[in-house]
Amino acid sequence: MDRPVKAIILGYGIRGRAYAAYAKTHPEDFEIAGLADPVAEFPADADFPTWKRWEDAIDSGSGADAVIVALPDRLHHAACIKALEKGYHVLLEKPIGCTWQECVDIAEAQRRTKRLVLTGYVLRYAPFYKKLREVIASGVVGELTSVHHLAAISYGKASHAYCRGNWSVEAKGTGMLVNKCTHDFDLIEWWTKGRKCTKISSFGSLMHWRPENKPKGAADRCMNCPESVRENCAFDAYKIYYDRRDLRYHFADESDEAILKMIETSPYGRCVYACGNDSVDHQTVLMEYEGGLTIILEMESYSQQRNRVTHFYGTRGEIIADERRIEILPFLGDSTTITPAQTGHHGGGDREIMTEFVKLVRTASPDRFPAILDAALESHRIAFLAEESRYTGKTVVDGKLN
Ligand SMILES: NC(=O)c1ccc[n+]([C@@H]2O[C@H](COP(=O)([O-])OP(=O)(O)OC[C@H]3O[C@@H](n4cnc5c(N)ncnc54)[C@H](O)[C@@H]3O)[C@@H](O)[C@H]2O)c1
Repeated sequence: MDRPVKAIILGYGIRGRAYAAYAKTHPEDFEIAGLADPVAEFPADADFPTWKRWEDAIDSGSGADAVIVALPDRLHHAACIKALEKGYHVLLEKPIGCTWQECVDIAEAQRRTKRLVLTGYVLRYAPFYKKLREVIASGVVGELTSVHHLAAISYGKASHAYCRGNWSVEAKGTGMLVNKCTHDFDLIEWWTKGRKCTKISSFGSLMHWRPENKPKGAADRCMNCPESVRENCAFDAYKIYYDRRDLRYHFADESDEAILKMIETSPYGRCVYACGNDSVDHQTVLMEYEGGLTIILEMESYSQQRNRVTHFYGTRGEIIADERRIEILPFLGDSTTITPAQTGHHGGGDREIMTEFVKLVRTASPDRFPAILDAALESHRIAFLAEESRYTGKTVVDGKLN
């Protein structure tokens, strides 16, 4: 195929807009064939069809090659299967499904239709993580014995997504671990390629953003909260969205006026102690792999920084990676630090995954497609098993509760 790959984008929120941007920067490779969203404002210069309902977009017979599913989690299963059955390749945002059964259904649909399903694991394509994998695979620190991986979300982002926002109530989609850390389990799957995870235990809870921790005198919305209470509250919506500017990208209109209105009227202006949320705010997963490798994953809301910090211990040295630098500390020889160049969102992963998607649609043999989806499913299998362990308080051994 020597023309641009044409895709319909379902859901024109943050992720839908991120993928759509690739059409502007790489017009020779990618073209938007249409957008579907019930509420979003579409670009004024759109020269393609738009729909309110994702079903209508898939049924439109638009001549597209692919569909990008950037919808809320609970719609991934239906939209992905319908798109596959209509003959489209799919770039599917994570999580693949809200339950393990939904993931299995999608794998079956992929086998039936022989189309590509690429999961939105943008970190795999980011130059930083590609370099890190290269360093691990080089054997410079010998055989890995253990890995400590911290996914620090930051109190601002965590309060936005997992307390006030889309992923605050587990029954409405997926809990925080499946939503956030399937990325991390995917990286772990990549780092440990070929080894099987044999035991999983997980602990975690919602400790702090609970009604009983609401400060005395606080109101249910920040706009009604007394100044004396607000000034001592780090989660005050005015501080998170108005004073700081780094989370404004979540909203289509980032102007001061729009942000103030959003705080007054939207769920993001609610007191964090009055959101009816039940997603955990921190969780730990302990894993044992074939051959004895042990891994600890820590997911934390109450951090200042929003990053991932990973410490690899090997029989010949250590690696410390923090999404900016990779420090290689061999027991013999000199230590080195690598600082991979990073440009763009998710360290360049948003751009690079689109490059990979276009390449796969244009050139890949369908024989490769099942393995691509299977690799992504492994992260979900581990995440759902970890949740099972957290709910039951038991260790999962060889995929079964012990
Ligand atoms: N890969 C990543 O790093 C990453 C990061 C963030 C989110 N995500 C995933 O991407 C997906 C979208 O997340 P987001 O942050 O863009 O959320 P969002 O809320 O910004 O966007 C979702 C969009 O879907 C639209 N929508 C809802 N119902 C619809 C329907 N019936 N038909 C068409 N559109 C509909 C909403 O109006 C909204 O604009 C989620 O599944 C999320 O887990 C992935």
